[in-house]
Amino acid sequence: MKKLSKAFICVASSVFLLTACGKKESKEAQVAPARTPIYTVGAEATFAPFESQNEQKEIVGFDVDLMNAIADKAGFKVKFVNTPFEGIFNFLAQGDRDMLASAITITDERKLTVDFSDPYYQSTQLIVVPKNSTVTKFRDLEKLTVGVQSATTGDEVVQKLLGKSNPKIKRLESATLALKELEGGGVDAVVLDTGPVKNYVKNNPTLGFRFISDPEFPKEYYGIAVKKGNIALLTKVNHGLAAVKADGTYDKIFKKYFADEAR
Ligand code: ARG
Repeated sequence: MKKLSKAFICVASSVFLLTACGKKESKEAQVAPARTPIYTVGAEATFAPFESQNEQKEIVGFDVDLMNAIADKAGFKVKFVNTPFEGIFNFLAQGDRDMLASAITITDERKLTVDFSDPYYQSTQLIVVPKNSTVTKFRDLEKLTVGVQSATTGDEVVQKLLGKSNPKIKRLESATLALKELEGGGVDAVVLDTGPVKNYVKNNPTLGFRFISDPEFPKEYYGIAVKKGNIALLTKVNHGLAAVKADGTYDKIFKKYFADEAR
């Protein structure tokens, strides 16, 4: 008799627990809103106006505004994370970043390891020199010491002229460090993307730097990179990008950062 009542209590309480549990679960499922995914975006943030850090250490710039606008259209959120440029593509492969939006030029070589969105910005390289420099064209750099941001397309184009392991190429971690090297006289010229060059020269008028364009520099197109094969995310990004281009959002962001440049 004693045994029986014990068993009864046991069964009764587990029925109660099950019911309570079941109720709780279904209640939660009803009220929980569909979660908006938050994707991490890697960017090397010393590349104004595309990405730089403000006084609060937040990453700001054209790429940030554009990614937020794309995310808005495509139904996700983004969180930018400062990421060194050299080896930046490994962060995707290892799953430490979902995307990269870092003024990255789409190249055939890079396409072997990552997937790129449709292009979102056209660029090229520029040569930056001090006021008194005699340089007038790219070929003039042949005998000079040239600063570049390591592992960038600027680095690649200078390698073609000077040779890959030429000690006259000084590879710096960031564009800002390369320009500081020029300021200190450690290099004779710097080769860098148009956007950050124009931005730096304009904001540092006392340095008296000038920039030179050369038809030898190929046109470059920036793309947003995702892990190779992440077609689902790539499709979302491309849809978002097409939508911001179509409704004028892209133009607004473009004007905010490049008011004096035609598209
Ligand atoms: N467009 C160049 C490249 O893809 C330079 C990019 C550097 N970007 C940066 N945020 N530091 O190689």
